[in-house]
Amino acid sequence: MNHDLETIARIAQARKTVKILAESELPTTNNRLVIDRLLACAGWAPFHKVCHAEHRQGELNGIEPWRFHCLDAQQCRKLGHQVSQMEAAGKIPAMLAAASHLIIATWLPNPTSVASKAELSNVEHEAFEPTIDNVEHIAAASAAIQTLLLAATAAGISNYWSSGGVLRTPELFSKLGIPSNQRLLGAIFLFPAEVPDDCSVEIATSKLRAQRSSSSAGWSRVVKLPT
Ligand SMILES: Cc1cc2nc3c(=O)[nH]c(=O)nc-3n(C[C@H](O)[C@H](O)[C@H](O)COP(=O)(O)O)c2cc1C
Repeated sequence: MNHDLETIARIAQARKTVKILAESELPTTNNRLVIDRLLACAGWAPFHKVCHAEHRQGELNGIEPWRFHCLDAQQCRKLGHQVSQMEAAGKIPAMLAAASHLIIATWLPNPTSVASKAELSNVEHEAFEPTIDNVEHIAAASAAIQTLLLAATAAGISNYWSSGGVLRTPELFSKLGIPSNQRLLGAIFLFPAEVPDDCSVEIATSKLRAQRSSSSAGWSRVVKLPT
């Protein structure tokens, strides 16, 4: 097999959900160079449509339909303290006590048309119009996240794509300086390579990984057109 293909196959298979939960805060390190490299990889993800002009204002004015809001370990610890005061904090403070980075990855919906504004305002604040453009924005942002996870795996960094729990609330968005017109797609936790090997740290993996189809036969088929 081609060497590059073997490498990407190995990394794709090696990527897995790893959650590290610490009882007390782990020491913080600063590996800005590595995170910059991961972000640079994510930036090569495909995207079909430029994000709407309303998202291209201020500091983050890229045309990509995603935004990555990055917290280093020190900021993770600080956020962990604040989140632990929240009722539905769950396991997030324990992961923030261990994380080397948290990346809040958002996708950028097109503004809602006047016609459906009233309808959508009755549902939760995360609502968006089910247009092809929005589906493609989500798809592109997902590709950027997966590229980042693969790059992290290649760098030996344990990672976890979370739905975010309390991190997706308007309260936390405001705290983190994330505009309310962005939608959370993933709260990406990155963890240090070395963690204490004792009972103060728990390492958890995912439930679905073992249930994956054993080959692509479970989810792909060869199409033959009628003659
Ligand atoms: C969009 C998305 C959201 C996810 N959210 C969560 C989550 O909130 N909690 C969780 O335990 N795993 C979450 N996961 C991770 C999946 O559970 C995991 O990828 C799956 O079980 C397969 O395991 P693997 O990543 O180890 O291969 C999420 C994955 C994706 C793609």
